[in-house]
Amino acid sequence: MPEGMPVLGIEGGDGGAAVARQYGDVAPIYDTLMSGVPHRAWLERIERAARERGRVPRSALDVACGTGIVTELLAARGYSPVWGVDLSARMVTIARTKALARNLPITYREQDAAALDLEGHAFDLVVSLFDSLNYVTDPAALRSAFRRVFLHTAPGGLFAFDLNSLYALANDLFSQSGTDGPIRHVWHAHWDRENRLCRVEMSFWVRDEATGETRHFTETHVQRAYTVPEITEWLTTSGFTRIEVFSGYGNRPPGPRSDRLLFVAERAA
Ligand SMILES: C[S@@+](CC[C@H](N)C(=O)[O-])C[C@H]1O[C@@H](n2cnc3c(N)ncnc32)[C@H](O)[C@@H]1O
Repeated sequence: MPEGMPVLGIEGGDGGAAVARQYGDVAPIYDTLMSGVPHRAWLERIERAARERGRVPRSALDVACGTGIVTELLAARGYSPVWGVDLSARMVTIARTKALARNLPITYREQDAAALDLEGHAFDLVVSLFDSLNYVTDPAALRSAFRRVFLHTAPGGLFAFDLNSLYALANDLFSQSGTDGPIRHVWHAHWDRENRLCRVEMSFWVRDEATGETRHFTETHVQRAYTVPEITEWLTTSGFTRIEVFSGYGNRPPGPRSDRLLFVAERAA
């Protein structure tokens, strides 16, 4: 991958049950698969964007938090309160178990981002990292997610998220394979240009170190590609202002061959 990292997705964020079902198998190995992702540097980049805007966020919400990798980093960096939300029950269960074991004061909810409803809480920083929102394959659901996030962003707060670009999904960057310790993966991507959908047939082989046995399972993940103009328009109509777009993990301006785009938007104070 040009940006150096694997891209892991899941099927249709608007498809609720399908998403949760898929993460039944991937969930336990998710953290191992993600071990090379520079989440900390990503958060530092987002915090720099906040500082450049004169903002000092204190509370944080992680939308589509998965197993809580970023959520835990937020708690460790002193944000309070910290909440995490994900559609997959299995991912949320793992996140909760980890937070409990590490004594981290994080509140997790199993929810669809498109119907986000956190009891009236609003946060200074809302993040949704690692192309989670590409899995919301229905544009109406993504627009709804933006509106719901806006309602949960405090005045003066920031919303930062990344997406796999159209370039990435249309150019087969999801087809990849590799071995990481006991886990081998082989992914084949299929691009549906008309609907801008990337379907990825994923195979995993997981070796149990204790027994020496290998378990094989497959999943089909679907991501939708969104363009910068449509995302910018939907953020704006949801109420967000001062929208910035970066390439990759936020270190360069976006270009035609950017495979990952980082968006930072703001709710006016
Ligand atoms: C690739 S993982 C990223 C997880 C986490 N953000 C990270 O950086 O490790 C994508 C996550 O998005 C979640 N997801 C997909 N659609 C969603 C939706 N509509 N609402 C909430 N979570 C969703 C999945 O359950 C999955 O945990």
